[in-house]
Amino acid sequence: MRVLIIGCGAREHALAWKINQSPKVTELFVAPGNAGTAPIAHNLDIKATDIHGLLKAAQQYKIDFTVVGPETPLEAGIVDLFTRYRLRVFGPTKAAAKLETSKVFAKKLMYQYRIPTAAWSAFFNPQEATEYVKRQEFPLVVKADGLAAGKGVIVVNNEEEADEAISQMMEKKAFGEAGSRVVVEKCLTGKEVSLLAFSDGSTVLPLAPACDYKRALDGNQGPNTGGMGAYSPPGFFDDKLIEQVRKVVLEATVRGMAMGGTPYKGILYAGLMLTDGGPRVLEFNVRFGDPETQVILPRMKSDLMPLLEAVVDGKLNEQVVSWSDEACVGVTLASGGYPGSYQTGFPISGLDKMKDGALVFHAGTKVRDNGEVVTDGGRVLTVVDNGKTMAEARSKVYSHVAEIGFTGCYYRKDIAAEGAL
Ligand code: AMP
Ligand code: GLY
Repeated sequence: MRVLIIGCGAREHALAWKINQSPKVTELFVAPGNAGTAPIAHNLDIKATDIHGLLKAAQQYKIDFTVVGPETPLEAGIVDLFTRYRLRVFGPTKAAAKLETSKVFAKKLMYQYRIPTAAWSAFFNPQEATEYVKRQEFPLVVKADGLAAGKGVIVVNNEEEADEAISQMMEKKAFGEAGSRVVVEKCLTGKEVSLLAFSDGSTVLPLAPACDYKRALDGNQGPNTGGMGAYSPPGFFDDKLIEQVRKVVLEATVRGMAMGGTPYKGILYAGLMLTDGGPRVLEFNVRFGDPETQVILPRMKSDLMPLLEAVVDGKLNEQVVSWSDEACVGVTLASGGYPGSYQTGFPISGLDKMKDGALVFHAGTKVRDNGEVVTDGGRVLTVVDNGKTMAEARSKVYSHVAEIGFTGCYYRKDIAAEGAL
């Protein structure tokens, strides 16, 4: 089988690494890929958002199966387009992707199917939103309805901050059209966890859970990022809780999507807060998480390819997935300045010094003509390893990280520290 993976992050490198191990796969392509995918796949120089360019490439290279990494091509309708041309593709349709691309859509679905989430209201105009917040208790969370690259969520502690967030989103259009509608919701407290599941439209098959670290600096300080590290499994998210979330969140969502005429196929990712009152949904994503995927896939003992195919073919009920008991930790190495502005083009040293067991998933990297690997983005690498305990995995990862260097490199030192308890 000839497989195409779309995207260029460490998530897509991890997918390529795992899919490449499948005996079903004869040739692997990644568009656009990075320096990490180049040795194991053909990198195609096509942007993930250029869905017509990707269609042409899929036809030209006779691709049998396509896996979509990021949300932007899903929002652009890549699954609808490929399906129209009878190409097999893993991911939800544009209509089903609204679970992530519209928070108002997701909230309405949760309300309709009694899926536990924070109390909320949606607004189409800023005056109504500012009137509403006057009557609420703080803190609150103001969220842009549409995609905002992880930046469209602001926690506000008083009326002034709320008015500013509402004005930024709805009047000053800080996130473009994504902020023309906003959701205002109650701020929840507790431990955060990500539970991803395969869904074929009716059957749900959860993956191992994981925790990610969104803030840039140790102790969850600094601005939000795309993710500075992750670990799996979180000890506090036990089988009983997972079973509860499977029933009241994942299965209820998939049922609701089918009832609404937009059956959900692909990865359903529930971002959850485990509150004193039980698990609550913070958000849905319609794709593999980044960096969660980098710590989930190394724990997956099963071949990933038959699972992806079963999702597309509606045969997930015939599948099981087995997991290693080992703990897995991933640390993101980022360019100085990220998530703000940063420089690129710095040589990366130490990649040849990695010990057995180390997995280095590339994100913003590229190979120069002279073979040198240089930085090419904000998040540069996710360094991953396993261990019998979380503490062992963690200490192995940080010993690998210490070998790697590039100008301006920074990373968090506290990834999986809590999971080791
Ligand atoms: P979202 O894109 O909706 O997941 O929001 C991004 C991040 O904001 C989440 O991962 C949480 O850390 C935080 N967040 C979102 N909604 C809430 C909420 N209702 N209460 C507390 N934190 C939240
Ligand atoms: N880890 C958060 C995300 O993938 O959106």
